[in-house]
Amino acid sequence: MQTDSSFTFVLFGGTGDLSMRKILPALFEAHRAGGMLAESGKIFAVARHVADRAGYLEWVNEHVKPHVSKNGLDETAWASFLDRIEFVKIDLGKPEDFVLLRDAISGLPGIRVFYLATGPSLFVPICHALASVGLNENSRIVLEKPLGYDLKSSNAINDAVGEIFAEEQIYRIDHYLGKEPVQNLLALRFGNVLFEPLWRREWVESIQITIAEELGVEARGDFYDNTGALRDMVQNHLLQLLSIVAMEPPHSMDSDSVRDEKLRVLRALKPIDPRDIGKVAVRGQYHAGVIRGHAVPAYATEPGVKPDSTTETFVALKVEIENWRWAGVPFFLRTGKRLADRVAEIVVNFRAVPHSALGASALRGGANRLVIRLQPNETIRLYCLAKQPGEGMNLASVHLDLAFDRFFREGQMEAYQRLLLDVINGRLALFVRRDEQEAAWRWVEPILNEWAASNKPPKPYAAGTWGPAAASAMLAQHGTCWLEEEN
Ligand code: BG6
Repeated sequence: MQTDSSFTFVLFGGTGDLSMRKILPALFEAHRAGGMLAESGKIFAVARHVADRAGYLEWVNEHVKPHVSKNGLDETAWASFLDRIEFVKIDLGKPEDFVLLRDAISGLPGIRVFYLATGPSLFVPICHALASVGLNENSRIVLEKPLGYDLKSSNAINDAVGEIFAEEQIYRIDHYLGKEPVQNLLALRFGNVLFEPLWRREWVESIQITIAEELGVEARGDFYDNTGALRDMVQNHLLQLLSIVAMEPPHSMDSDSVRDEKLRVLRALKPIDPRDIGKVAVRGQYHAGVIRGHAVPAYATEPGVKPDSTTETFVALKVEIENWRWAGVPFFLRTGKRLADRVAEIVVNFRAVPHSALGASALRGGANRLVIRLQPNETIRLYCLAKQPGEGMNLASVHLDLAFDRFFREGQMEAYQRLLLDVINGRLALFVRRDEQEAAWRWVEPILNEWAASNKPPKPYAAGTWGPAAASAMLAQHGTCWLEEEN
C-alpha cells in the first residue's frame, strides 16, 4: 500500500492520550513497514504544553515509545521516524497563532491532513482558525468521536465544519471500521457465494453483537460520566457493526456505494417506542467486584464520577430492521465495561433444520452458527453438526475455523494504521458519512430521552460478571441466550 503522493500530517492534541497510544504508534508502524508512507511526508505536532521540537521529541520518546515496542523496537526505524516529526507551538484559543502553522507548512508538497485529536468543543474553533489562514484548501480533516452529545449538537458541529470543508474532505473516525475482521466480514459476505443466500430472515433466527470490556473507565471518569455506554459505544461502534452485518451487497467497494448501503440499514432500524423501552433495552452500572482475581471498585467511586451517578456502563438492546431481508429477526446488541471478559464478536444463529431425519440430536443447539470474533484472537468459526465416530448416528457440534494469525502469518494491521493510511490516500469508505451519523443519533435519541426522563437508576451488576440479569431475561423471552451462557 504505497502513498501516491506526499503529505503533511498535522496532529492537534499532539500530547494527548490518543496521540500517545494510537495515532503516533500507528504512524510509526506505517513508517517502519516501509513503502506505506511517502519518504517526503512530514508530521507536525501541535501542542501547547511543550516549548519546542526538542521538548516534543523528548515527550515522544518517553510516552510513545513504550507503545510501539511490543515486538522489539527497531531503533533505526524509530530514529528515522523522529526525523519526520516537526513541532508547532500553538495556543488553540488564539486564532492568530495559526499563522505560525501556515508558515511552517506552506510550500510543502502533497495533501494536508489535519487530525483533530482534541475534545469536540475545539473542532469548530480549529476549523475556523484553519480557514482564516487559508489552510482549508487542498486538505482533509479528521474528526475523532465523540462528535456531539446528541443529534442537535452533532448537527451543530457538522454544520459549522461543513461551511469550511466539503463532505469529501471530512473523515469521521470510527476505529471499529478499521479492524481487520470487520473488513473480513465484507470479504466473507461478498466474496463467497456460500453465505449470501442464507443471510436473511428465512435462514437466520437471531444475531448477537457484543463488545465487552474488562477495563473500567480508567482516567476518563469526567468524560464518561457525561457520556455513558449508549453514546460511547452504541451510537457509533455497535450500530456501524450492525449496518455492515445487515447491509445489502453494494455494487462496488467505492466509498459511497458502501456507505449508501449502510445508511439504508440505519434508516430501516425500527424506531423504539418509549413505552416498550423496558422490554427492548437494559441499562446497567457496575458495582465493586473481582476481575481475574483482582478486586475492582464500583463505578460510582471512580475518580471523576459523581457518587450518585446514574450513567450506564452497560447496555443491551433488542433491535429490529424493517426491510424484507430482516423483518422479524432480532439483533441483540450488548456492550459494557468491567465485564467478565474482553471480547468483541458477532454471532449469527441460523435456524435449525426444518425436519430432522437424523433424530433429535440434529436439532440440538450449538450448531448452524457463525461466530466472527473481532478481538482478541481474530477468528471466523462456522459451527456445524457432524456424526460422532462409532456406532449409531449420533451428531455432535464441530467447527471449521479461520484463525487469522495462523493462516496469514504477517501483514496484520492495527485499525488506526489502516485508517490513517486511508486518510492520507483519500479513501473514504471506512469513515462515517454525515447522513449515517445523523441516522444513528436519530435512532438512539428516544432511548437517551427516555432514560433521562425516567427516575429509575441503571440496574446494578457486579464487576467481573456479564451484566445485569435483565439482559439474559430479554433474550430468554425469545427462546435464546447469549453465547457464553451456552457453555
Ligand atoms: C472507544 C471508547 O471508542 O472504544 C472507549 O470511547 C472504549 O470507552 C474503546 O474503551 C474500545 O475500543 P477497543 O478497540 O479497545 O475495543
